[in-house]
Amino acid sequence: MIVTTKELFAHAYGKYAIGAYNINNLEQTMGLFKGNVDSKAPFIVQLSKGARSYTHKLMLEAMMNTADKIFPEAVFAIHLDHGDEATCMDCINSGVYSSVMIDASHEPFEKNVEITKRVVDAAHAKGLVVEAELGLLKGIEEDVVAADHVYTKPDEAFRFVKATGCDSLACAIGTSHGAFKFKGSQKLRFDILEEIQKLLPGFPLVMHGSSSVPQDEVARINAAGGNLKGASGVDASQFLGAAKLGVTKINIDTDGRLVWCRVHREFFRDHPEKFDLRDPGKVFMPEYAKFIAAKNVLLGSAGQVDAARAYIQASKKK
Ligand code: G3H
Ligand code: 13P
Ligand code: ZN
Repeated sequence: MIVTTKELFAHAYGKYAIGAYNINNLEQTMGLFKGNVDSKAPFIVQLSKGARSYTHKLMLEAMMNTADKIFPEAVFAIHLDHGDEATCMDCINSGVYSSVMIDASHEPFEKNVEITKRVVDAAHAKGLVVEAELGLLKGIEEDVVAADHVYTKPDEAFRFVKATGCDSLACAIGTSHGAFKFKGSQKLRFDILEEIQKLLPGFPLVMHGSSSVPQDEVARINAAGGNLKGASGVDASQFLGAAKLGVTKINIDTDGRLVWCRVHREFFRDHPEKFDLRDPGKVFMPEYAKFIAAKNVLLGSAGQVDAARAYIQASKKK
C-alpha cells in the first residue's frame, strides 16, 4: 500500500521513527521490501537524483509499482530524496511518488522559502507532501559542499514552516552524509530539536545523515581488502530519543552501501573462481533484508505496520 509520508508521520509522531532507505537497484529493492515485511515495519523508499540517473528514473519508478504488487503487505511511501525544483516537479507529475524533498538549503533563507513554496503548491495540488530543509549538513549534499555544519535555527524553522506550508522539515543538528561523520565522539545538537518541538509541537522533523557505520561492518570490509579507516556514524541508541523530540523520519543510505560492499568483497575473496553476478546477489538480498529488519527494531518501527495501516485507513474514511 503506497501512502504519503504525512500519513506515516501522523501515526509515528512522538513514539517511533520511520526508516527512510535509499535504493538504486533491483537487489536493494527486493531486500528492502523483504526486510520491512519480515519486521512488520512501515517504511519510506528514497530515490535520489543520483539514483534516478544511475539506473533510469523510469526503471526505478516501475520497480516501485512492481514491488507494491509483489509485497501487498508492505506499507510505504515513495519519496524523492534531495530534489531540486525541476526534479521535484518531474516526480510530482510522474504519478508514482507520494512525497518529495525540495532541498534548497544552500540558498539564502528567502530564496529557500520561495522555491519550497512553489514545490509545496504544486505537490499539494496533486495530493503529494513535501519535506524541505533548513540548515546545512557538513560535507556533500547532492552537488553542494559545506565546509562545516550550519545548524538549523529554531526561530527560522518556525518562520520557514509557516511561510512555506511544507509538511516536514530536515534539520541540521550535526549529522552528515557518508561513512566519515565524526572525528572523536559524536556531538549531536538535540537541544535544537527540543527548541523546534516547543515552537512547532506535533510537526514532523527529519534527520539526514543518520547511518551508524557499524564498526564490525567496517572491520569486515577492511579485512576483505577495503580501506575505510576512521569511518564512523551515528549512535543508533539515540534514535528513540530523537523520535520523542519530533523526529519521525531517519535517513539511512550509507549503512546499506556498507552491507553491499562487505558482501561483495567477502564473496569474491572467498570464491575467486566465481564470476556470476547472481551468486553474490543471492547472498546480498537476504543480508540486506536482515540489516533493514534490525534497523527497524532500533527505530521502533518494527511491529508497527498493522497499527499504521489501520490508522491510515481509518483517517481516509473521515
Ligand atoms: O543524501 C544523499 C543520499 O545518501 C543519496 O546519495 O546522491 O549518491 O544517491 P546519492
Ligand atoms: P547517510 O549517508 O548517513 O546514510 O545519510 C543518508 C541520507 O541522509 C539520505 O538523504
Ligand atoms: Zn540526506
